[in-house]
Amino acid sequence: MKNKKVSDSVIEMREMVMPHHTNPQNTIFGGTVMSWIDIAAAMCAAKHCNKPVVTVHVDEIHFISPIKVGEHVLIKASVNYVGKSSIVVGVKVQSENPYFNEIKTTTRAFLTFVALDSNGKPTEVPRLDLETEEEERRYENAKQRVAAAKELRKNLIK
Ligand SMILES: CC(C)(COP(=O)(O)OP(=O)(O)OC[C@H]1O[C@@H](n2cnc3c(N)ncnc32)[C@H](O)[C@@H]1OP(=O)(O)O)[C@@H](O)C(=O)NCCC(=O)NCCS
Repeated sequence: MKNKKVSDSVIEMREMVMPHHTNPQNTIFGGTVMSWIDIAAAMCAAKHCNKPVVTVHVDEIHFISPIKVGEHVLIKASVNYVGKSSIVVGVKVQSENPYFNEIKTTTRAFLTFVALDSNGKPTEVPRLDLETEEEERRYENAKQRVAAAKELRKNLIK
């Protein structure tokens, strides 16, 4: 199986916050952001392995600042790490105020997907060729989170 680069599967999506996306504070509802994050990350993982993927774990999600109605939402997903059949995708969400060109990072998340074969069983994914220091840093960080999450699963899921 041919190795893939991080740049081969980067996904960039844009949305605009409409009134039906909001919470009682009139800022974006967290569940809407989580749904966009899951979609962008799943497209990224599927592009990496060219197979169907399912979400198995949301490693981390941090809501850093709110997003207001009318603001644009930029969602960027890239592969951080791969196991045998699993793919860890990092997602950065930013808000952009279209009137002032002000960009803020609002959310960061890490999700794990598993590639499935035609019988719905986990199947091998391409290795990752790292090209930049930033990609190497993300890979090492994700590797540590994967090992820690594996340890936790041993105790939590019986
Ligand atoms: C995906 C699924 C088929 C994997 O089955 P499984 O029996 O756990 O498979 P395995 O134990 O062989 O694990 C396969 C890989 O998933 C990883 N994995 C499984 N559960 C995980 C979890 N909770 N968190 C992180 N990684 C996980 C394993 O570490 C392994 O990675 P590797 O191949 O890179 O080493 C099964 O967990 C499933 O169907 N889950 C539901 C998925 C779903 O419906 N998602 C929501 C909608 S998209």
